Amino acid sequence: MHATTESTEASEPTHSQHAGKVRLRKPTADDGFALNQLVAASPPLDPNSVYCNLLQCSHFSDTAIAADIDGELAGFVSGYIRPDQPTTLFVWQVVIAERARGQGLAKQMLLQLLRNLDQRNREPKVTFIETTITPDNQASWNLFRSLARDLNASLESQVFFTRDRHFGGRHDDEHLLQIGPFKT
Ligand SMILES: CC(C)(COP(=O)(O)OP(=O)(O)OC[C@H]1O[C@@H](n2cnc3c(N)ncnc32)[C@H](O)[C@@H]1OP(=O)(O)O)[C@@H](O)C(=O)NCCC(=O)NCCS
Repeated sequence: MHATTESTEASEPTHSQHAGKVRLRKPTADDGFALNQLVAASPPLDPNSVYCNLLQCSHFSDTAIAADIDGELAGFVSGYIRPDQPTTLFVWQVVIAERARGQGLAKQMLLQLLRNLDQRNREPKVTFIETTITPDNQASWNLFRSLARDLNASLESQVFFTRDRHFGGRHDDEHLLQIGPFKT
């Protein structure tokens, strides 16, 4: 799949191998509800409230990217710049609709999001990306390992939130991954 790239807003759609016309773009509040539905349909992601998704799509839209396939929301990366570490983009969630998986879309969206941030000339520049992953989410581990390879950057991980101490025994450990430093 080769979706076209874009800096901040819309891009010319291109045709993907299996899924249809893919367009990467900056999200708006109008995506909030569709994002909520997409995440709810994509275990093992933790569902958030519609309100939380609306904030991700509005206040945090500069650090997010949406993918439409044939005009329908089919992928989303949410994130924020760490308030305590302004060179780090923290990726909150990555979700790709089932029909569009396995075609390189998630990695392409992450790389495009980094390029978008770079083109906005924000200072300091983003040189690290972080996320948390549960030990058994192989797709997610492979996605971020592949991203680290593409960025030619090292990847480190450590346990961050633990089942018993932080989740009351109700959720797997979350490991913090850090990729960087890199140049986009
Ligand atoms: C994880 C997810 C975002 C991957 O999206 P995707 O568009 O299919 O990923 P990509 O096609 O860009 O693949 C990137 C890399 O991950 C690997 N990968 C993707 N899905 C995989 C899977 N199910 N099992 C093993 N490896 C997988 C790919 O082989 C590729 O590696 P490579 O570059 O070394 O070949 C998608 O499966 C998803 O939305 N899952 C449900 C939600 C979730 O778990 N999100 C991640 C946690 S935030």
